[in-house]
Amino acid sequence: MSIDEIRERYSRAGLSETDLSPDPILQFEQWLRDASDAGVFEPGAACLATASRQGEPSARMVLLKGVEERGFIFFTNYGSPKARDLAENPRAALVVAWVELARQVRISGSVERISREASARYFESRPAGSRLSAWASHQSEVIDSRRALEEQMQRVQARFGDGDIPLPPFWGGYCLSPMQIEFWQGRPDRLNDRLRYRRQAEGHWVVERLEP
Ligand SMILES: Cc1cc2nc3c(=O)[nH]c(=O)nc-3n(C[C@H](O)[C@H](O)[C@H](O)COP(=O)(O)O)c2cc1C
Repeated sequence: MSIDEIRERYSRAGLSETDLSPDPILQFEQWLRDASDAGVFEPGAACLATASRQGEPSARMVLLKGVEERGFIFFTNYGSPKARDLAENPRAALVVAWVELARQVRISGSVERISREASARYFESRPAGSRLSAWASHQSEVIDSRRALEEQMQRVQARFGDGDIPLPPFWGGYCLSPMQIEFWQGRPDRLNDRLRYRRQAEGHWVVERLEP
């Protein structure tokens, strides 16, 4: 079958202004719970879009590890291309899609590093293998072979032995503080519901309906 033969019909209930929480973070948490209850694999997976100072765009998946009052938290290597983009241009966007539920959330705003203490707290909660691989990888650099990567991992294992695996200085979290969050619900005949929150100067949110 070719991909253009697939035409799913979206039959889910709609999204109305009266269903929405006044707070988009609470609304996001509700949809995240719905996705988790529906058995979606990695419901916190999000596509993060960044752009360099020159406006060159780049997008990749990350896992959201926190949804808080101030924003959306993810973790990565601070020497990676995405981190370089964010150092040059802190504006970024996230897209979360729960396609099985015909739902999408688009988030945009600005990104800051979280505190070292908060990064360390999360790092300590990770399995030892994931902590070691954070040390072993120079994320997105070219490497000769899989074998060379495994040797880097072995060197890191030998270095830390059975002792503590501390937070690498080049690794940690970011928080995207949203200025806009749009909730998209697929409806029959592609007459979809789209409700967008826009943050006002005083900090409260305005909700607007967008045409599909
Ligand atoms: C489902 C999924 C989740 C991912 N989560 C993360 C993550 O939380 N942090 C991360 O650094 N990379 C994550 N990755 C890998 C990134 O998509 C990407 O390959 C890597 O971060 C390098 O990106 P960069 O070269 O743009 O910096 C994930 C990939 C997938 C497919």
